[in-house]
Amino acid sequence: MLIKVPSASACKESDVTPEEFYLSRRAFIGGSIAGLALAAAPGAAFAQDASRYPDVQAVEGPAWFQQKLPTTQWQAVTVKGEAITPFKDATHYNNFYELGADKGDPSANASALKTEPWSVVIDGEVAKPGRYALEDFIKPYELEERIYRLRCVEAWSMVIPWMGFPLSALLKQVQPTSKAKYIRFETLVDRKDLPGQQSSFGLINWPYVEGLRLDEAMNPLAIFAVGMYGRVLPNQNGAPLRLVVPWKYGFKSIKSIVRISLVEEQPKTTWQSIAADEYGFYANVNPNVDHPRWSQARERRLPSGLFSPNVRDTLMFNGYGDEVASLYAGMDLRVNY
Ligand code: MTE
Repeated sequence: MLIKVPSASACKESDVTPEEFYLSRRAFIGGSIAGLALAAAPGAAFAQDASRYPDVQAVEGPAWFQQKLPTTQWQAVTVKGEAITPFKDATHYNNFYELGADKGDPSANASALKTEPWSVVIDGEVAKPGRYALEDFIKPYELEERIYRLRCVEAWSMVIPWMGFPLSALLKQVQPTSKAKYIRFETLVDRKDLPGQQSSFGLINWPYVEGLRLDEAMNPLAIFAVGMYGRVLPNQNGAPLRLVVPWKYGFKSIKSIVRISLVEEQPKTTWQSIAADEYGFYANVNPNVDHPRWSQARERRLPSGLFSPNVRDTLMFNGYGDEVASLYAGMDLRVNY
């Protein structure tokens, strides 16, 4: 990616998120689970939404999202002992090239992304292909909160409370045929409205494309997210529907998905097409395989600054090895980077 990374070796390790903020939030969430059962009406759910994360501005969100809140299972998976990234950082330091190339562009241009109406096409090697209005696409699934590390290939990281449902649930529903070996995802193309797509001389050949092997997609950690921090996804974070694959570099977690195809061949992804020697198909977080232009041994946990760089060791598979390492048994991860 087109980035400048500060020298990690010059930094001292520290965690800048105040501990009391982290602890009080945990206590609040623990205490609020009982109250959640009472929140049956969409209006009551909105009240929950407004106060679940104290630093998060309340938004009502679309009806389909509000209807899911009362039954949402909060915190199915969490990250022990690591502070959740402040909402401000998670929503103002973004990579979303459709909305611009600088980290502040996606939030500044967020309103350019029109998320209603939205539909998702499912096609290829599936028994049940179709085009689904978003509300119908979401309807069969219960939402869960999953607090995951997000590690960008650019060597920064965050901890984000997503809301979503497992990819495996969708796959069970649409029934891949025996020929399906991979799953391919595509983001919206809207050359009229999305500022990053308006020039035909850009770096990226739109749409943004990503893919997973079918067994990776079936892993319980892989989710579709429709919300974060207890509220609907902000546009700059990939509304209304994005992928989250926490053991892989962030560029695999494709945003604003409009097409999901089950395919026989490994799909050619956006970053592979731009620089195959820098961004592989697998893109598993791996401290032992450096990017050709920088080390991956350490990472900056956001928020980070000159006087508190907040650098920490990169974890193999981003800390999710127990859950995913078996997917890659026998594979040379230096070759399949
Ligand atoms: N999806 C699309 N469609 N376009 C993008 O530019 N950027 C990727 C990924 N998904 C990107 C995308 C990259 S490089 C990263 S690190 C993550 O989104 C960032 O997600 P965040 O902005 O929510 O932190």
